[in-house]
Amino acid sequence: AGMTQDELKQAVAKAALDYIAPRLERNSVIGVGTGSTANYFIDYLAGIRNDFDGAVASSDATAERLKKHGIPVYDLNAVADLEFYVDGADETNDRLELIKGGGGALTREKIVAAVAKTFICIADDSKKVDILGDFPLPVEVIPMARSHVGRQIVQLGGDPVYREGVTTDNGNIIIDIHNMDLSRPIVVEERLNQIVGVVTNGLFARRPADLLLLGTKDGVRSIP
Ligand code: A5P
Repeated sequence: AGMTQDELKQAVAKAALDYIAPRLERNSVIGVGTGSTANYFIDYLAGIRNDFDGAVASSDATAERLKKHGIPVYDLNAVADLEFYVDGADETNDRLELIKGGGGALTREKIVAAVAKTFICIADDSKKVDILGDFPLPVEVIPMARSHVGRQIVQLGGDPVYREGVTTDNGNIIIDIHNMDLSRPIVVEERLNQIVGVVTNGLFARRPADLLLLGTKDGVRSIP
C-alpha cells in the first residue's frame, strides 16, 4: 500500500528480472525496450551482467543506458536467437494488446517484439484499460507523407495531431491519433499500416505481449 507510480514501475522491472534470470544462458541476448519502466529494468539487468551475453536496444536512448552499465549492445541482424523482449507500454487491455510509442520508439520496439520469442510487458496498473484509445495512438510517418497520412486518418475517423519538434531515431515524424475507435485493434492496426507513408503504428495487437507483469498496490500480478 502507498506505493508511488515509480515504485510500481520499479517493482515490475524487478519482477521481469526475476522471471528471466533463471531462464538465461551465458550466450543469451535480451531485447530491451524504451521508457522509464524499461530504464528500471536496465538498471536491474546491470546487476546480473555476467550471466548473459548482451542486449538488443529498441532506441538510441536505451542503447546508451545499456552501454553505460557495461552491457554490450548488438545489432538485431547479428543476433541468431532472441528469447526475451522486455518493455513497457502506454496502455494494455485484458488480451495484452498494447498501445506503445509514447516515447516515439515504436518502430524499433515493434521490430524487436516481432523477433523475440517471449514479449514480457511491464507496467504499473494505471496503464490497464478496458478498451484501448484514451492514450493517443502514435504513428511513425515518412516526413513528406505527413499531410497525406493526416487526411487518411481523418477518413478512418481519427483526429491526427502532429507531434511538434520530434524526430524519431529513424529520421521520421510522429502523428498521434486522438479519438479513434480502437474496439477492434487488429483491424485498425492493419488499416493504418496500409496508408502509404506510414512506417508503423503503436498498436501491438497482431503481436500482443505474451506475459504482462502489472504493478498494483497489492503486488505484481502476472497475466495470464
Ligand atoms: C516508448 O516508445 C513507449 O512505447 C514506452 O514503452 C512507453 O511510453 C512506456 O513508457 P513508461 O515506462 O515511461 O511509462
